[in-house]
Amino acid sequence: MVHIAEREVQLPEAVISKLIKIAAEDKSVLSLGPGEPDFPAPQPIVDFTKQFADKCNHYSAPGGRKELKEAIIKKLKKENGIIAHPDNIVVTCGSQEALLLATACSCDVSEQVIIPNPSFLGYLPLFELFNAFPVPLQLHEKDDWNINPDDLKHLIDPKKTKVLMLNTPANPTGNVLSRKLLEEIADIAVQHNLYIFADEAYEKLVYNKPHVSMASLNGMEKYTVTFQTFSKSYAMCGYRLGYAVGPKLLIDAMTKTHIYSTISAPTISQMVGAKVLGMDAKYTEAMRKEYDKRRKVIVKRLNQMGLPTVQPNGAFYTFSNIKDVTDDSFKFAFQLLKEAKVAVVPGKEFGTYGEGYIRCSYATALPRIETALDRMEKFVQKHKR
Ligand SMILES: Cc1ncc(COP(=O)(O)O)c(C=O)c1O
Repeated sequence: MVHIAEREVQLPEAVISKLIKIAAEDKSVLSLGPGEPDFPAPQPIVDFTKQFADKCNHYSAPGGRKELKEAIIKKLKKENGIIAHPDNIVVTCGSQEALLLATACSCDVSEQVIIPNPSFLGYLPLFELFNAFPVPLQLHEKDDWNINPDDLKHLIDPKKTKVLMLNTPANPTGNVLSRKLLEEIADIAVQHNLYIFADEAYEKLVYNKPHVSMASLNGMEKYTVTFQTFSKSYAMCGYRLGYAVGPKLLIDAMTKTHIYSTISAPTISQMVGAKVLGMDAKYTEAMRKEYDKRRKVIVKRLNQMGLPTVQPNGAFYTFSNIKDVTDDSFKFAFQLLKEAKVAVVPGKEFGTYGEGYIRCSYATALPRIETALDRMEKFVQKHKR
C-alpha cells in the first residue's frame, strides 16, 4: 500500500496552481496570475541554445561549470558589489533549488527562521519540509510593506533563531528595501549572529529605486547567502538556472547535498547562462521598460477603482487592499474568476498577513491587462460593501 510521508501530507496545497489551471483551460479568462515573464527569451539566448545543442549531453560539475562561475563572479562584482570566488558559488536548478539546499544545510530541526509575511509562497513550505520552525514577521501596508526593524528584534530568540529570510525586490508586494533599512537589518543580524538568506530573484526589475545587495554591505558577505536566477531577468524560467553565493563552508555543504538532489543544473542551461551574463543589457532593459509602462497603468487603475495599492518599486506585481469588498481573498479571487473571468492570486497564499489583499501580475501584455482591469472595475462596483 502506498504510504505518503507525514511531512508531505502537511505541506500546503497551493491554490495558485488551481487558478492557473482554470485560467489555462478557459480561453475566455484573462490571467493576472503569472509569476513568470510573458516575453519570449531574447533572440541571442535562443541562438546560444541552438549553438550548444550538440555539445551538452553530459553532466556538469555539481558546483557548476567553470566558465559560468567565472561569468557569475564578474557579474557579482560589477552589478552587485559582491566579491566572490568559485568556492563561494553553487549553480542550481533555479534559485528555488538553491533555497532548498541552503535550508537543508543550515537549519537543524526546530531551529527558527524568521520569514516576512506576506512573502513568496515558496518559503514557508520549504522550511517546514526540513522541520525548521518558521516565525512570521508581519509586514504592513502602512509601512509600504517594508520590514520594521523593531518588529524584527522582538521576534529573535537568542537560542533558537538561525536564519532571516529577505526578499528584495519582493514578491508579492513589489517592495524594494533601501540601503538604509538593509543596514539596520544587517546590524541586527550581526548582533544576533543570524544567517541572512537574501533572495534577489527580481534584482534587475526595479523602477525609480536602486537594488542593493545585502552581501555588498561592509562585512555582510560572512552572514549572507545571496540567491539569484536567470528566470526573471532574462525570461529563462524554463532553463531552470540559478545560483547561491555565500560563505565557503555553507556552499561546500550545499554542493555536497546538490549531488543527491539533481547532480548538476542542466548542462545546456549553464553553457547558455555563461554567455547570457556577457550579453548586451538592452534586452533586459527593454523588458524592464515595458513592465514599468504596465506598472504605471495598473497601479493607477487599481487605486481608482477602490482597491488601494501601494506603489511597487520592483518585480512585476501589485498587492491591493480588497477590504472594501471583502476580507476573504479566496472568496474574492474565485468569485472574480467565475463572474468576471479574471484570475488574480489571493493574498492569503502569501501568508496569513496577506489576507484581505490580492496579487496581480503585470507580466501580461498591456491590452490584456487593460481589459482585465475593465472587468475588475465592474466587479468591484457591483460587490463594494
Ligand atoms: C521571490 C522568488 N524567489 C524565487 C523564485 C524561484 O525562481 P527560480 O527557481 O525560477 O529561480 C521565485 C519564482 O517565482 C520568486 O518569485
